Amino acid sequence: MIWAVLRRELDRQAGPLTVVDVGGGTGGFAVPLAEAGHRVTVVDASPDALAALTRRAAEAGVAERVRAVQGDGDALAGLIPPATADLVLCHAVLEVVDDPPGVVAAVATALRPGGAASVLVANRVAAVLTRAVGGHLDTAAALLVDPDGCAGPRDTLRRRYDADGAAALLSAAGLAVEQIHGVRVIADLVPAAAAEADPESLLALEMAAAGRAPYRDIASQLHLFARRPT
Ligand SMILES: C[S@@+](CC[C@H](N)C(=O)[O-])C[C@H]1O[C@@H](n2cnc3c(N)ncnc32)[C@H](O)[C@@H]1O
Repeated sequence: MIWAVLRRELDRQAGPLTVVDVGGGTGGFAVPLAEAGHRVTVVDASPDALAALTRRAAEAGVAERVRAVQGDGDALAGLIPPATADLVLCHAVLEVVDDPPGVVAAVATALRPGGAASVLVANRVAAVLTRAVGGHLDTAAALLVDPDGCAGPRDTLRRRYDADGAAALLSAAGLAVEQIHGVRVIADLVPAAAAEADPESLLALEMAAAGRAPYRDIASQLHLFARRPT
């Protein structure tokens, strides 16, 4: 789903793009984007992840188009010059930073007017349902009422979002939210054997459900696509 949305944007914006991937890790998005001719700066807190990214980019023959910057997402504003990025990815990072509104504001500042942000966040609704289905009713109950969607001190994430909350976060930074999709609406529900037996049908169903409420709203993750107004 995410790639379907990104491909439409890559087709829309002509020419090689300047891309920033905040918390881009080992380059799961950065390297394919560089292979497609775009210049990608990955900002990540982990030196190990960046080392893996650098190796992966070299193996793919795109090292010259991938820049690895070690830094905290919370410090993004000081790492990327304002209004220079055509596309900023911020996937699975807002759940762990200190200051999500500050990071989103820095994403908006890094974008040139008309540039786009691709933001992926963990969905609190899915986390509640998954814990409940797994029999962890206390954890599900804690997640349901916690103001941040965190299950407690042992939770690996500091917060989770719902679609409205995530959209409000981006809007508050001056970004215009254009699309919200669920990621892994169906895929995390079907038995592995069914997924392996017919992956094409699973993909088709996943894509059909991704943009439709209420299916979208129970997906494991929420993908928001937003634009800095011109
Ligand atoms: C779950 S991974 C997501 C990687 C990639 N964005 C993706 O979606 O495949 C989270 C990444 O964020 C990085 N990270 C964690 N805390 C961070 C922070 N405060 N600032 C920047 N990156 C951070 C981690 O090193 C890791 O590479």
